[in-house]
Amino acid sequence: MACWWKNGIVYQIYPRSFQDSNGDGIGDIPGIISRLDYLRDLGVDAVWLSPIFQSPMADFGYDISDYRAIDPVFGSLADFDRLLAEAHARGIRVLLDGVFNHTSEKHPWFLESASSRSNPKRDWYLWNPGIKGKPPSNWMAVFGGRVWEKHPATGEYYMHAFLKEQPDLNWHNPEVRKAVFGEMKFWLDRGVDGFRLDVVNYYLKDAELRNNPFTMGEYPRPYDLQSHVYDRDRPEMHALLRELRTMIDTYPDRMTVGEVMVDKPGNPELSASYLGAGDELHLAFDFTVFWRKWNAESFREAIGRYYSGIHEKAWPVITFSNHDKPRAIDRYQNGPETVYRARAAAVLLLTLRGTPFIYYGEEIGLRQGKIPRKRIVDPLGVKYWPVNPGRDGERTPMQWTGETHAGFSTVEPWLPVNRDHQRVNAQGESQDPHSLLSLYKKIISIRRDRPALHSGSFRELPAPKGVFAFLRDAPGAHSELSEEASPEPVKGCAVFVNFTSAAVRCSLSEPGVWKGVFSTHTGKGEGKVEAGIILQPDEAVILERNP
Ligand code: GLC
Ligand code: CA
Repeated sequence: MACWWKNGIVYQIYPRSFQDSNGDGIGDIPGIISRLDYLRDLGVDAVWLSPIFQSPMADFGYDISDYRAIDPVFGSLADFDRLLAEAHARGIRVLLDGVFNHTSEKHPWFLESASSRSNPKRDWYLWNPGIKGKPPSNWMAVFGGRVWEKHPATGEYYMHAFLKEQPDLNWHNPEVRKAVFGEMKFWLDRGVDGFRLDVVNYYLKDAELRNNPFTMGEYPRPYDLQSHVYDRDRPEMHALLRELRTMIDTYPDRMTVGEVMVDKPGNPELSASYLGAGDELHLAFDFTVFWRKWNAESFREAIGRYYSGIHEKAWPVITFSNHDKPRAIDRYQNGPETVYRARAAAVLLLTLRGTPFIYYGEEIGLRQGKIPRKRIVDPLGVKYWPVNPGRDGERTPMQWTGETHAGFSTVEPWLPVNRDHQRVNAQGESQDPHSLLSLYKKIISIRRDRPALHSGSFRELPAPKGVFAFLRDAPGAHSELSEEASPEPVKGCAVFVNFTSAAVRCSLSEPGVWKGVFSTHTGKGEGKVEAGIILQPDEAVILERNP
C-alpha cells in the first residue's frame, strides 16, 4: 500500500522567504498559494511550512503566542484554509511546524502561569525557587546563558532551553499533554496532514533536575561543554511518543516528523530510536550528514548507522539542508565542482531509502547568503557574531526570476537577495534542460515511476574508494514473494555516486541486464551497461535492472 509520507517527497518552505504577495518584503501565505503550481510541476507530495502562527517573532515564529491564530504578517486563517484547499487540489499535503517544547512568553498559558505561584497553570511550565539564591541546576540554554531565568514578580526561576522569550512547557503534567494535543487536533480537524515537531527530544526534562556532566564540546558555546543527559532525550520520551502516535493515528493518513536536535558530530542511533517499533514518531530527522564532509566513506558510515538503528517497521528520512544549518551546496562547495556536487547530492537525496526533505531553493542551487553585519536579524547571529553568524544565510529569499528582488517581492526583502539571482533563478532554470531544477524534476519523475526507488529495500554495493554505491530492490523482488509477485518484471535500481574529483571505474557484479536511466553528466545515461561503468568526477548515475 502506497503511503504518502513514506514514498512521497516533502518540500520545506520557510514562509518569510518564499514569496511576498503584498509588498512588505516578507513572504506570506497568499504568496505560497501563487507558487503551488511550481511545486506541483516540481513533483513534490507535501510541503512543510515553518511556523506561521501568531508570534512576537523573537525567534521568527518559533515562539508562538497563539497556536490557533495565523500571524497577520503571513495572512489570515481564511488564507490558510485556501492554501490547504488549493494544495490538496494539486495533490500536495500540508505539514505545519508544531513548536510544543516551549511557547512564547506572551502566550496566555505562560502569562497565567507567571501571574502567581498559586495560579492553576503554575505547573504548566518549569518553575523552581532555586537553591540558596542560585538556579536549581547547571543546565545551559542552546541560545546562550543559563536555562533558568529569574522572574522577579514571583521570585522563582522558569526554564527555557532556547531564548528567555521561549519558556519550556512542563510535559510531565498531564494537563499540558491534553492541552497541546488539543491544539494539534484543532489543525488536524481542519484537514492538516501532519506536523513537523520542533525539538521533540527536548519535551521531557529530568524530574529531579540533576546536573549535566561536563564534556569537551566542539563549539565555543557553553551549551556544548555539557553532556545533555538530564535536560533532553529522557527515557520517558518513548511512552510520551506512543501516546502521541495513538492520538495522531485516530486520524487517517496523518503523520509526524520529529526534529531530533543533537550536537556535532550527530547521533543517528538516537534519531532512529524515536521511531520505536514503528509506534512512536512516524519519521525522525537525523542530521549527522550535516556535519560530514563530501566523502563517500563518511556518508556511507552515517547513513549505515542510521539505517541499522531503524526498526524494520519504521522508515528513514533523508535531508541535507534546513533553516538552521548552512545550506548543503555551500557546505560541499569546491570551486567549479560545486554545481556537480549539488547534482550528485540531489541523486543521493532522491534515491537513498527514506522520505526526502528538500529545503526551498535547494532545487535551483540557492546558495548560502552573505549577510552584511547590519542586516543580521537572527537572534543567534545578533548575539554571537562573528563567532556564530547566525542562520540568516540559509534563509534568504527564494530566487524566482532575474529581476530586482528576484521576483520574491516588489520591495527590498527582510533579508538580502543573493547577488547571483540573475543566473540562479527558477524561471531561467525551468527553460534550461541542463539546469539543476530540470535535474530535480527528472529524478523525481524517475523515482515516481519506480517502486524500487521510492519504497524498495537498500543494500550497499561494493565500490572503489570514493564511490558510494547501493542497490534498491522493489518490494517483491525477493524470492519468497515470487508466487504472488505480479507478472510484470520486478525492477531493481543501482545507484553509483562518485565523491572524488577523478574518474573512477566501477564494476557491476550484480546479476541481470543493466541499463543506464540517468546521469548527472549530460550526454550520458541511457543505454545498456556491460561489465562496468566509468564515473566522471562527481558523477552520479542511476541504473536499472530488467530481470
Ligand atoms: C528548532 C528550530 C529552530 C528554533 C529552535 C527553537 O531547532 O528548527 O529554528 O530556533 O528549534 O524553537
Ligand atoms: Ca508579505
